Amino acid sequence: MKMAQGKVDVLLGLQWGDEGKGKVVDVLTPGYDVVARFQGGPNAGHTLEFDGKKFVLKSIPSGVFQGNKVNIIGNGMVLDAALFKAEATSLEAAGVNLRERLLISKKAHLILPTHRLLDSAIESSKGSGKVGTTGRGIGPTYTDKVARTGLRVGDLLTPDFERKYGEAKAAHERILKSLNYEYDLSQTEAAWRDGLEYMRQFRFVDSEHCVNNMLRDGKTILCEGAQGTMLDIDFGSYPFVTSSNTVCAGACTGLGIAPGRIGRVFGIMKAYCTRVGSGPFPTELFDNDGKLLSERGNEFGAVTGRPRRCGWVDLVALKYAVRLNGVTDIILMKSDVLDTFPTVKACVAYQLPDGTETDEFPFDCEGAKPVYEEFAGWKTGLCGLKSEDDFPEEFNQYISFLEEYLETPVSIISVGPDRNQTIFRGK
Ligand code: GDP
Ligand code: IMO
Ligand code: MG
Repeated sequence: MKMAQGKVDVLLGLQWGDEGKGKVVDVLTPGYDVVARFQGGPNAGHTLEFDGKKFVLKSIPSGVFQGNKVNIIGNGMVLDAALFKAEATSLEAAGVNLRERLLISKKAHLILPTHRLLDSAIESSKGSGKVGTTGRGIGPTYTDKVARTGLRVGDLLTPDFERKYGEAKAAHERILKSLNYEYDLSQTEAAWRDGLEYMRQFRFVDSEHCVNNMLRDGKTILCEGAQGTMLDIDFGSYPFVTSSNTVCAGACTGLGIAPGRIGRVFGIMKAYCTRVGSGPFPTELFDNDGKLLSERGNEFGAVTGRPRRCGWVDLVALKYAVRLNGVTDIILMKSDVLDTFPTVKACVAYQLPDGTETDEFPFDCEGAKPVYEEFAGWKTGLCGLKSEDDFPEEFNQYISFLEEYLETPVSIISVGPDRNQTIFRGK
């Protein structure tokens, strides 16, 4: 893939997460020197498959399997030391060399054991209004970041660490008590401390200087997003969102990259749509089609194992996502899941509760009814195809419609979970 000099490319999700970011970062990595994650934490589950093996990455960027590339955990991320240790040691056991080429930002925030407890306590206190978080302490950790009471990776190198930890823990315990939440911290705290000791063996860096020096030296960087645009804290379906900026601007704040440095923006979408957790989902299906999408797409959360809610592709939300991110290239995933459908639907507008129709994503999409356009299905197995020349005509028509509606070219098409099941268009 061609990239602009002195620029970074960004790859991010356009829907509610799980679009297939991990797979495509892995596929694109050979074209870059560096892969850098800019937000989120172990709420992510990025799946990669190659050579008959399968890996699910949570906090570690998806560029670790292709040669000796540098991978960066950016300042915009939040890290759980115990989960980091589990993930990194399993990669090391699989023969992946991480120590010298995984750099961790000193400004990344630490998820404390009490953050996880708070996540769970706050969710329980919300009853039916719960967000359905991954329970990894993401929200409370970002809350402390914004409240200026968080602990950062760099704090581990200071003599103040224990004092700061003690203060944060005490503040969290006061909240837990006020929520009447019962807990036993001893085991999780021990695992966390063990994780911290393990983490210390890695290189803690001022990643904003690293990435800018790399750019100055002509290195090429791919920024990896987590979650998806519709889970963005500002623009997603608030309050049913995650706690970070998943949009392209998050790559600037989450890595210290100036906005003018953004080059290509790869926006990933499934040919249909899924969502995990609570919140509005206008195109959600509760019928056999939904069941079929779930089964054929194997739609179960990579982190929590929860079944993902499934529905038709939502072009109103996608157009909004393309606009917010300045997407230059669309990457279309999992069309093979639709292979057997006689017809395929795409939502092109919402009918709002007040009776009006819109193709602009509204303040609240709760109660919005999808207006569909229907296409003939391709009824062909896409999985084994190697070139766009082999695409059935109906599939080409579907792609052309997406390109026209979203005013953006579809550059890459994925037709299966494996690294090799990826077709670059125009090649
Ligand atoms: P991420 O969080 O965006 O990296 O996506 P996940 O890994 O959570 O979910 C995507 C799932 O779809 C994983 O199980 C992938 O192995 C799988 N997958 C990725 N691309 C394709 C594809 O084109 N077709 C099919 N059938 N599965 C895919
Ligand atoms: P990847 O990177 C799908 C969802 C949760 C919940 C909401 C808030 O694999 O695409 P959080 O734990 O972040 O406070 O949960 O966001 N969520 C995801 N859904 N894929 C993800 O990551 C997600 N990360 C968080 O289900 O609804
Ligand atoms: Mg995922």
